[in-house]
Amino acid sequence: MNVSDQPAELLSLLRWYQAMGVDVAVGEVARDRFAESAAPPTRTLKPKPTPTQAEPARTSAASAAPTLTAPDLDEVEKLVQACGTMEALRAAYDAYDGCPLKPRATQLVFADGNPEADIMLIGEAPGHDEDLQGKPFVGRAGQLLDRMLGAIGLDREKVFIVNTVAWRPPGNRNPSPAEIESCRPFLNRQVQLAAPKLIVSLGLVATQTLFAEKISITRTRGQWRDVSFGGFAAPVLPTLHPAFLLRQPRQKREAWQDLLTLKAAMTALDGGESG
Ligand code: URA
Repeated sequence: MNVSDQPAELLSLLRWYQAMGVDVAVGEVARDRFAESAAPPTRTLKPKPTPTQAEPARTSAASAAPTLTAPDLDEVEKLVQACGTMEALRAAYDAYDGCPLKPRATQLVFADGNPEADIMLIGEAPGHDEDLQGKPFVGRAGQLLDRMLGAIGLDREKVFIVNTVAWRPPGNRNPSPAEIESCRPFLNRQVQLAAPKLIVSLGLVATQTLFAEKISITRTRGQWRDVSFGGFAAPVLPTLHPAFLLRQPRQKREAWQDLLTLKAAMTALDGGESG
């Protein structure tokens, strides 16, 4: 049976892919790998000539895949330093092609909340809902985050929220170190321009990114550490990621302690006035 002639079969195949976590297309043209593996093997008898400028290399579906050339981070640093406002930085990030995640994502997920706020939250990476809406933390984890913030009198007008990378990793995998590094100049500049007084890192990946070392989130959470963001220093409080708390609700007790630690620091900032 040719499945493409059967809409119901096609739909159930798509649903099965989705249930298996295959929820993004990685190429414009579908490849029939069954047909490829059934075809007799082809052998190249002659070494392929090296393409010259007069005879450019032919492109194929495979060679049209996103290139992973590492960006020149010194150049990227100059680019971000030239951005004097958050809007200029957003435009530069949107135009930036140095992050390998960009070609497969729907759009840039730059930030949400108030860039003037004293408190900044740094998450890991956009997920499915964030990719569609272009805003961080709008899915289930984001709803839990809103409730956590609400419990200590915060909302999105009182915090500024970003991620270590601004494009969704396919299938919600963790961003790789190379993907994170390609976005780090933008993250640093987001922090420099927002100039928050306190920063909360959400989960292992964000905390490892900021501390620039391998850590255990269960041992590191709840303790402030000063971090430099390309020259701008701010205290960072690691806590558990809301997506982790959705899977491990018993850990909410630890997250609550971290929220109280944050609340105490906010009160100290206000000279003991905030309740
Ligand atoms: N998880 C994150 O770390 N960031 C988001 O924006 C959404 C989910």
